[in-house]
Amino acid sequence: MAKALMCAPEILKQDLQGRVFIVTGGNSGIGFECVKQLARQNAEVILACRRVEDGERRVDEIRAEHAGANVHVRRLDLASLASVRTFAAELSAERDALHGLLNNAGVMNTPNTKTADGFEMQFGVNHLGHFLLTDLLLEMLKKGAPSRIVNVSSCFHDMAMGRKGDIHFDDLNFQQKKFDGWEAYAQSKLANLLHARSLAKRLEGTGVIAVSVHPGWVRTDLAKHTMPLFVQNFLLRPMLSLAGMIDPWAGAQTSLHALLASDVPDHNGEFYSQTGTYRDKSCNKGGWPMRSPNPVAHDDGVAQRLWEKSEELVSRA
Ligand SMILES: NC(=O)c1ccc[n+]([C@@H]2O[C@H](COP(=O)([O-])OP(=O)(O)OC[C@H]3O[C@@H](n4cnc5c(N)ncnc54)[C@H](OP(=O)(O)O)[C@@H]3O)[C@@H](O)[C@H]2O)c1
Repeated sequence: MAKALMCAPEILKQDLQGRVFIVTGGNSGIGFECVKQLARQNAEVILACRRVEDGERRVDEIRAEHAGANVHVRRLDLASLASVRTFAAELSAERDALHGLLNNAGVMNTPNTKTADGFEMQFGVNHLGHFLLTDLLLEMLKKGAPSRIVNVSSCFHDMAMGRKGDIHFDDLNFQQKKFDGWEAYAQSKLANLLHARSLAKRLEGTGVIAVSVHPGWVRTDLAKHTMPLFVQNFLLRPMLSLAGMIDPWAGAQTSLHALLASDVPDHNGEFYSQTGTYRDKSCNKGGWPMRSPNPVAHDDGVAQRLWEKSEELVSRA
């Protein structure tokens, strides 16, 4: 297994005083590591999560290490578009500018469940919730320009446990065909990548950059719908590490690079990958940036259709 890609040390030493970032799902796993690092670099960080008490506990942990950390917790449930609207409305009533939006929260291989608005859970949380959130925060990101939007996708946008990543426009919410948790995850993660690609085109000339990332295969709570976490974290831990599973700090590197590295604006709309598992094995070592091996990820027709469909779905809900 290739070695994990790590940020250049100088990127993680920049003083981010005066810069404001939102990290969705910032209370856990990769998102928490990103919140912690941005706070260490003196940024103001809004930790957006659905379990506010857990978020507050995580902020206490950060303050125990870095007393001056400027981190606030705000409630955001991406499985409810009403919650997304409330979050964005309250934030924009309070402040003008935003410099980074890390669309990180996600669920994987969930049972066949629906969001409050009736969307398949993974498509709803991973894509539609972030689609609406980004749209509602665009004016703030434009005011904060140069600013960045980073969508946390996955190498599973290419292939997830044997299911090819595609956007199933005829049945986005698995209302007709039999539900498959991996197919739904692959669809939602491909949507993250196409969303960033479309944003980059639409925001050209505004100083707002959008990219997507694969963070690596990371030891977090994401697998909770697939196996009991003690199996991953204790029983199989040595074996999974040998097979390429990395810790959350290494898992945060691609997101931090995409948010902070100075050459990212030269790659607007592109995909940044940590080590991963792709159909084309030559991609497994990752790349910052890297051309996705999934042809659908480069199809502007699909990106445009997904944009229009997403707009329709979130405005109807
Ligand atoms: N771990 C990996 O191997 C891996 C690989 C590729 C891509 N990714 C991507 O990395 C991102 C971060 O995942 P992770 O690995 O750090 O997993 P994690 O530890 O499970 O974190 C996921 C975060 O998303 C939040 N979330 C889930 N549903 C939400 C909702 N309805 N509203 C708001 N927040 C919600 C979770 O909140 P709760 O704590 O309340 O559940 C948690 O904070 C995800 O987008 C995932 O797809 C991870």
